[in-house]
Amino acid sequence: MTDYILETRELTKIYGDGVEIRALDGVDLQIAPGEVVAIVGPSGSGKSTLLNLIGALDRPSSGEVIINGSSLSKVRNIDLFRGQTIGFIFQTHNLIPTLTARENVEVPMHELRMSSGERRARAQELLELVGLGTRASALPNQMSGGQRQRVAIARALANRPAIVLADEPTGNLDSKTTADIIKLLQDLNRSQGVTMLLVTHNSEVAAAAQRIITIRDGKILRDVRIDDELERELIEFKSSALGQAVLHGINVPAELSPHAGRLRELLEQV
Ligand SMILES: Nc1ncnc2c1ncn2[C@@H]1O[C@H](COP(=O)(O)OP(=O)(O)OP(=O)(O)O)[C@@H](O)[C@H]1O
Ligand SMILES: [Mg+2]
Repeated sequence: MTDYILETRELTKIYGDGVEIRALDGVDLQIAPGEVVAIVGPSGSGKSTLLNLIGALDRPSSGEVIINGSSLSKVRNIDLFRGQTIGFIFQTHNLIPTLTARENVEVPMHELRMSSGERRARAQELLELVGLGTRASALPNQMSGGQRQRVAIARALANRPAIVLADEPTGNLDSKTTADIIKLLQDLNRSQGVTMLLVTHNSEVAAAAQRIITIRDGKILRDVRIDDELERELIEFKSSALGQAVLHGINVPAELSPHAGRLRELLEQV
């Protein structure tokens, strides 16, 4: 038995037949149950590819994904396995425009043996969990961007997945709504023990994770556990204008300059 809920071994994805693109290049990863992991890295570095392979939305060129000890390549009914194990949240929420919030949340439940009454009750419960209990009958275009994203989160949780994969879950949202979504995801992790992998460009989202994996050119460049609050704050500071000034030694305010050297050292470590 393994202690990990999710592992990848030498996971590789090569696109293209003429010119090869190594989107993912031998990634070894171990994720423990209940971890919240942020995946960061430049555009084109392979973040979405990694998530798609883990979620069995795409197949690796070589290497394997192991979930709860089973290699995905050996799972017979991959659609069923995915539906029962994994919840997806995308940047664009992908709600069905002609269905109400509640009906959208019910969509993944159609794969399971549930009566319509059970589906309805579960969807209502999930909408309440994300603070939308009173908007169950609203259509997507009658809701704000943040509300739509919360419906998408409720939908991702419909089948009680052990793992939630989110690709830029706050990508289109303003900073207040982003903060609300971060809090919601953290609460879900604490109350339901859901393991989460969040691809993000947003430093606040990354700082909310317990671990930050940086991907570059299809490889893991860094894998950092954020053990304490100071480290978390430093990571947030690093991405601010002031943090960047200190890090690069450009336009450092006079009151900070006596400490700039030490501060830069700290920022280089996170
Ligand atoms: N279906 C595809 N066919 C060919 N190449 C692809 C395909 N999907 C992704 N790629 C390439 O694989 C590499 C990794 O792409 P990926 O989408 O994983 O990057 P990303 O880190 O998610 O970037 P972003 O931050 O812009 O979303 C890129 O070079 C991309 O052009
Ligand atoms: Mg991407």
